[in-house]
Amino acid sequence: MTMPQSGIKVVIVGAGFGGLTAAIECHRQGHDVRVYESFPELKTLGDIISFGANAGRIYHRWSEGRVVQRLRELCIDLSSYGFRIHKYDTGEVVYHQRNPPGDPKAPVLNGHRGELHQVVFNYARDELGIPIHLGQPVGEYFEDEEQAGIVLQNGERVLADLVIGADGVRSKARELVLGYVDKPKSSGYAVWRAWFSNTDMIQDPRTREFCAHGDSFNGWIGPDVHFLFSTIKGGQDCCWVLTHRDEHDIDESWSFPGRLEDVYRVLEGWDPICRAIVEKTPSLVDWKLVYRDPLSTWVSRHARILLLGDAAHPFLPTSAQGATQAMEDGVTIAVCLKRAGKANVPAAVRVHQEIRYDRVGEVQKTGETTRDRWHKTDWETVAKDPKSIAFPREDWIHAHDAEKHANETFDELFKKVTQPELFENVKLRPIGPIGVTVG
Ligand SMILES: Cc1cc2nc3c(=O)[nH]c(=O)nc-3n(C[C@H](O)[C@H](O)[C@H](O)COP(=O)(O)OP(=O)(O)OC[C@H]3O[C@@H](n4cnc5c(N)ncnc54)[C@H](O)[C@@H]3O)c2cc1C
Ligand SMILES: *[C@@H]1O[C@H](CO)[C@@H](O)[C@H](O)[C@H]1NC(C)=O
Repeated sequence: MTMPQSGIKVVIVGAGFGGLTAAIECHRQGHDVRVYESFPELKTLGDIISFGANAGRIYHRWSEGRVVQRLRELCIDLSSYGFRIHKYDTGEVVYHQRNPPGDPKAPVLNGHRGELHQVVFNYARDELGIPIHLGQPVGEYFEDEEQAGIVLQNGERVLADLVIGADGVRSKARELVLGYVDKPKSSGYAVWRAWFSNTDMIQDPRTREFCAHGDSFNGWIGPDVHFLFSTIKGGQDCCWVLTHRDEHDIDESWSFPGRLEDVYRVLEGWDPICRAIVEKTPSLVDWKLVYRDPLSTWVSRHARILLLGDAAHPFLPTSAQGATQAMEDGVTIAVCLKRAGKANVPAAVRVHQEIRYDRVGEVQKTGETTRDRWHKTDWETVAKDPKSIAFPREDWIHAHDAEKHANETFDELFKKVTQPELFENVKLRPIGPIGVTVG
């Protein structure tokens, strides 16, 4: 199902969901792509990750639905259970949100980050034959008008028409290419997160019900705190996240250990079932949520290096769109390169930025609105209008088809980028280094 070869050579740094999607989509569009990743081997790291229908739509196009089928088997299935929202102290279910049947060609996917990542990684490497070089931390980028490249640890220079920096939230590319010094600010919140097997849950009559009848999803909403608990793979695996106030100033990390005593303190006065669940947790992660100012550009001086995914625009997890937006990026750049052709790679990169920038900014904002709505719940309003507490699923986010959108908007934007003189008041996003240049 790949298109004719475009002759465009793409090097991608980082094999997260953003980098891998860019690689798979570039392959689909006929570009010659290879990936360089710092981790030396694949590990099933992380816990729950969410993909919206706008990601399901992308996955569904890979090998006629075969990849999405594999992902679905690992993901939570709430078609019968739905989502039950409880008041934190009484425990009463204030709203039972039913799962809409949804579009089978654009499923919502929630599962273990490491397990889903493995499926995508294996698909890219083993089925499509995309070269993925592990154990390659990239520490140097270069470009001129004609080409771009990276320098590997052993000094080897790898050349390409385009380099994509998809190296995540702590992106080195962001610093090296754009000179942007990362200054994360505390958001005032942190999340405790845990993933574990259901053995102890089944043994306790208070918690058995969550694991004994397939998958489940429950949320308890309290003042400035929310606790979400789900069971996955037929109730076999358990996962919870608890978002709470936290002013401490430590580093964000997926692997910083948390302490159960701290969780119990926050859960004092809560529905006792919450503590009964948390007690089964063998270990947990304490992840501080930080804000970053949005970058004014994702594109290098010669527009031959592009940042994508978390490297360009980190998300708060309450938006449940971070990985999905990274994937939309990957789809978009692949289409733009295809449409612009090898002679116009810098223009393709600029068009990509025009297509993506505003949408990403709008989606990013939703990470705060959901949290704030829950944390400042007015229970009288909920009593009158239970739906007001539902988890929002907005069409403008989920119905979006990144490939179709790139198809439809490309021509006009390409003209604006390459012949701005034909237009009145064209405002294009800037490119080139920003902030202080480092090193
Ligand atoms: C270990 C890990 C666990 C995570 N767990 C969760 C989770 O449980 N839930 C959740 O919602 N999100 C999790 N995330 C974040 C989530 O995957 C991303 O927010 C989202 O998928 C966007 O993906 P991305 O590809 O832009 O970035 P990432 O997924 O962060 O991928 C970036 C990749 O670049 C690699 N890299 C970094 N620097 C270099 C370099 N100099 N040279 C070469 N490669 C480099 C990294 O090793 C990583 O594989 C996790 C990320 C990581 C890396
Ligand atoms: C985008 O355009 C290509 C080329 O015309 C076409 O093959 C593809 O189906 C289009 N994609 C979508 C989602 O419309």
